[in-house]
Amino acid sequence: MTLEAIKYHAGSLQILDQLLLPHKSHFVDIRCVEDGWKAIKTMQVRGAPAIAIVGCLSFAVELKKKKFETIQELTEFSNKSLNYLVTARPTAVNMSKSAKMLSAMLSSSKCDDVEELKQGIIDHIEDMLDKDIQDNKDLSNYAAEHIQSTCNKSNDGYTILTHCNTGFLATAGYGTALGVVRSLHKEGLLDHVYCTETRPYNQGARLTAYELVHDELPSTLIADSMVAVLMKTRKISAVVVGADRVAVNGDVANKIGTYQIAVLAKHHNVPFYVAAPVTCHDDIIQDGNDITIEERPADELTMVSGVRVAAKGINCWNPAFDVTPAKLITGGIATELGVFAADEVKQLKNQVKNG
Ligand code: MRU
Repeated sequence: MTLEAIKYHAGSLQILDQLLLPHKSHFVDIRCVEDGWKAIKTMQVRGAPAIAIVGCLSFAVELKKKKFETIQELTEFSNKSLNYLVTARPTAVNMSKSAKMLSAMLSSSKCDDVEELKQGIIDHIEDMLDKDIQDNKDLSNYAAEHIQSTCNKSNDGYTILTHCNTGFLATAGYGTALGVVRSLHKEGLLDHVYCTETRPYNQGARLTAYELVHDELPSTLIADSMVAVLMKTRKISAVVVGADRVAVNGDVANKIGTYQIAVLAKHHNVPFYVAAPVTCHDDIIQDGNDITIEERPADELTMVSGVRVAAKGINCWNPAFDVTPAKLITGGIATELGVFAADEVKQLKNQVKNG
């Protein structure tokens, strides 16, 4: 059975509550923009593409129910809702790109029928689901081909290390970095995949491990602190991670810990890939220094499953993302248009504006 995290039928949206995984599969109703914002803010849904898709679908669900007298009324409601959704989490670019694109669609439309224009917006949002899955499959196949042409393998195939969760739970389906793992497996070319625990929020242990076990992929969980010894003692063909925002110069913001894995990969000569559909690429921010990094509450560090593990009174710093400089992305950045060297992704900005 294929995993499903977003259930959408015209006017109705349910999402798998990722706060309860891996112990419980429970879907929650998202009936309006406020529900969508809260689900993103509280991380019932997370992962850059899924944040934008659920955010936009929450808007579509509310839009469908609402009656507007004029195009101006529709535009004002839309801009207000979309700008609000962008505020839920700051680092991933996907929601803000979608918001800009939908607002531009409204402002540039020649349509003078308010119902028709409203339906056009809803149709566009609904298309995001299929488009994301297709983009993920395309980029995963490109990356799998690239890995075959450049990376070392054992007799049993390629061994991949991944970080955080980038699969069905973080996208409309298939996944980005985890999609690459799936594509290698489909070709009979996956020897093994290692996933990091991804402290402090444990997306690797809770969510990636759940997907790997569900799909019966040959896999092993490691703590984040084991990456260096893993690279030294076991043959890792490539590291493949996702992205929350790719800057114009190819610097990549992704889950905290990605940067240190890239440093270790460089030291051990392990190719380092980023799997990032064009929706994750920022057309405006030139380099990683200007990316806003979300800081999350201290209790994500001090508590594990509701139990305090840190000494009371200790100060905490909890940035949720870090930036990997383009020069450490030695394998390339895989997109639905092909695999690019990190310093070549600026070409993409001119091809696909605001995805
Ligand atoms: O804080 P999260 O769980 O939303 O962070 C997720 C990541 O960093 C992912 O690697 C990224 O969004 C890519 S998901 C295809």
